This record gives sequence, structure tokens and C-alpha cells, in this order.
Amino acid sequence: SSNDNASGGGRSGALSPGPVTGDVQKIDVNPPKGTRDFPPEDMRLRNWLFNNFKEVSRLYGFDEVDFPVLESEALFTRKAGEEIKDQLYCFEDRGNRRVALRPELTPSLARLVIQKGKSVPLPLKWFTVGQCWRYERMTRGRRREHYQWNMDIIGVPEVMAEAELISSIVTLFKRLGITESDVGFRVSSRKVLQEVLKCYGIPENLFGKVCVIIDKIEKIPLDEIKKELKASGVMQEAVEDLLQVLSIKSLTELEERLGSTGEAVADLKQLFSLAEKFGYSEWLQFDASVVRGLAYYTGIVFEGFDREGKLRAICGGGRYDRLFSTFGADDIPACGFGFGDAVIVEVSFYIVRKERLLREKDLLPELSLQIENIVCALDHDLQGAAAMVANILREKGQSSDLVLENKPLKWVFKRAARINAQRLVLVGSSEWQRGMVSVKILSTGEQYEVKLDDL
Ligand code: HAM
Repeated sequence: SSNDNASGGGRSGALSPGPVTGDVQKIDVNPPKGTRDFPPEDMRLRNWLFNNFKEVSRLYGFDEVDFPVLESEALFTRKAGEEIKDQLYCFEDRGNRRVALRPELTPSLARLVIQKGKSVPLPLKWFTVGQCWRYERMTRGRRREHYQWNMDIIGVPEVMAEAELISSIVTLFKRLGITESDVGFRVSSRKVLQEVLKCYGIPENLFGKVCVIIDKIEKIPLDEIKKELKASGVMQEAVEDLLQVLSIKSLTELEERLGSTGEAVADLKQLFSLAEKFGYSEWLQFDASVVRGLAYYTGIVFEGFDREGKLRAICGGGRYDRLFSTFGADDIPACGFGFGDAVIVEVSFYIVRKERLLREKDLLPELSLQIENIVCALDHDLQGAAAMVANILREKGQSSDLVLENKPLKWVFKRAARINAQRLVLVGSSEWQRGMVSVKILSTGEQYEVKLDDL
């Protein structure tokens, strides 16, 4: 409890709901279902994670961008039967415009790229961390709002771009203390499906729809999948063939099945060869069943997974070379990924629990508030003096918690311990008259007087 109002007497500093009178209704103190508050300890964890996202993006030379959380609904209403469209938080604003809380960041990114047009030289390497909203069925690691870290490369048609993106995620995992024995990447290419569909003369415009159906393979019964595929115009034989190809788990087998001349096999072989050069091949495995749920992917797709198989995808991404034309612009080759803040925290907690090595393995950082000084006046008349002292310290860049009320020393020591203060700076009248304050190093108990100038 944060209620440590030990001073007694005076006005209570603790929050307590007042009596319910008349027609005042006590509010529900929980945030809306599926959303989170971030009290200080959670906010520290979030900042730590986001700082790692940002630092990795910086290491890879990406520029940060941001977009509004509220977008025009039309940006997200693709017609491929994606789950994400049915999960949209959308409404009409006061000016009768259809708007939506963004469920993902990629359409906004595409919008900005199109808006910038030819004024920006390619390739663009952009990253962003932002909140997304999806009206999801709640499961572990899936909620109705989440933050996503995205890195996207616009203007590079070569597999080198995907290889670089996966490398950046590996770097993030390593920084968090997560190894290839904890997580891995499943990789495939949508071109695998495309090549199978092409054999049966199935038109290209069905492609996105078919991928979206296939993505649901682990979530709904196989008979349902077959029914949906047939209903969307894929004939029986093709369905069986597709399902057979999707079960392939080795590149050699895929090559035997599709031949070695197609782009699917060539792209994937190249990615695996680059992974060796980048030094992360142990993290990577081919799995033809990976298609990802968004309709716009066109080439290599990948997802990060926990090897215990307990959680949904940690991150997901791929190549989307034809998204821009769906917005009426010229296509530009592009790829990227989204990495949520919810599943990864579960993974960290899970590993911690499994190995019971929270501190040794250093997976989660020291998450307490750290303050350099706590500054306190020894009597009421010196509160202004204490404020001056705190400001001198702050101007020197030192964090200082100023005790704002007249409190007994016992209370001050308790607070100092709670906020992990390193030094206690006491402003007492006899020292103050000599231009001095008394400083106590809280870890050793050492105490001395210091001139204001030498603070
Ligand atoms: P996505 O696969 O829909 O891709 O989501 C990417 C990641 O966001 C997921 O792997 C997961 O970490 C997180 N995520 C998604 N939905 C939720 C949720 N309801 N609760 C918690 N976490 C969630 C995209 O959104 C693409 N726009 C990614 C991308 C960027 N592709 C290319 N560039």
C-alpha cells in the first residue's frame, strides 16, 4: 500500500473515498475492460522496455516517427475478411466523419509515406512506438489496447531488408536477456501459397483473402477452414494441395515440392544464408504454415514465438510490396514488423519463473524509484531555505525530493527508504545561519556539514 501517512494529526495525506451521499455514485475504479493503468511500478517497466525498443532502433540507424491514434476509418477497412477489421473501435465524430482508433500502425505509416511523396529519398527506415486498439477476445498477452514497436524499411526490394529487421529483433531479445533457447522465429513466404494457387489458375485478387483464411488454421477447426476456402472460390483439389504444402517444415522439402526456380524458395534460401552471416541462424526456422493475419503481406513473413509454446506470437511482420497501390498510390517495396509490449512481458515473467533467477539472469531491471537526494527543513520557518537547497541540487542535475510539509524525522527516514534516496539533506537553523546544510549518506550513515556552494 502506498498509504504510509505515519505522521498522525493534521490533514490526512491518504486518499480515501468520502461518504456516498445523495445521488453521487461511487465510480468504478477499474479501467475499461482490456485496458491498463500504468501505476509507477508498471510505468517503470514500460519505460525500460520502450527505451530498449528505441535504443535498438537507434543502433540500426532508424528515424522515429509518430501518427495520431485517431485516424480516418477508411484507412483500415480492407475487404479481405481480416479479423482486425471486425475488431475496430470506430465511431462518427461531431463533424460526421467516420473515424477509428488505430488497430495497427502500418496504414498510418503508408499514409505518411504517400503524403511525403517524392520529397523523401528512399530507402526510408522508420520506427515508432505507439498505442493500438483492437476489440479482442481477451487471452493471455492479448488485450484491447497494446503498444507496438514498429520498424519498417520502405524502398528496398531485396531480402537483405527482412534480414536486417530480424537482426534488430534478435538484438532486442539479447538486450533483454532472452536467448535462442527461450524464443525463435518461424519464417515462410506468402509466395509459397501464391505458387500453389497459380498452378490451379486461381486469380491473384483472391490471394489476400486466402491468406487470411489460412492464418486461422490453429484457431478454428480444419473443416471450417476448408469450407471457407471453397466458399471463397478455391476448388477442392487446390485446398488439399495447399494444406499439404502448409505442413512442410523444411526448406529442402519445400524445394522438392515447388521446384527451385520460383521466388518463394529463392527468397527463403537467401534469408537463411543471410541469417548465417548476421549470426542468428539458430533463432530461425522455416515453417510453411506461417502466413500472418494481415492481408497486405506479399512475400517473406515471420513471427517471434516462445519455445514453450504457451503464448501467442511475440511479434510479427513481413514484406508488403503492394500496400501503397491499395491507397491509390504507386507501389513501393516495403517490409516491417510489429512487436507488442504485452506478450514479451509475459515471456520475461515466464522465463524468470521457470529459472527462478530473476536477479541473477538480470531479465527484469531494478524497478524501484531512485532519487539522489531527499531534502528536508528541520523546522517550518526553513521550508523556503530547503526549497532553495533542492533547486541548487536540481540545477546540478541531481534528482531531489523536497519534503513539502513539516514532518517528524522518523517519517522522513521512512520516506527516504521508500524512494531509495542516496542522501538526506537536512536544513537546520544553526547550520543555515553559517551557510551550511547537513548531509547524511543513507547507505553508510556517514554524516557531515557542507557549504551551499559545495553541494
Ligand atoms: P500484427 O501481427 O497484427 O501485425 O501485430 C504485431 C504484434 O502486435 C503482435 O505480434 C503482438 O506482439 C502485438 N499485438 C497485436 N494485437 C495485440 C493485442 N490485441 N494485444 C497485445 N498485443 C498485440 C501488425 O500489426 C503489423 N502492422 C505489423 C507490421 C509492421 N507489419 C509490417 N510493418
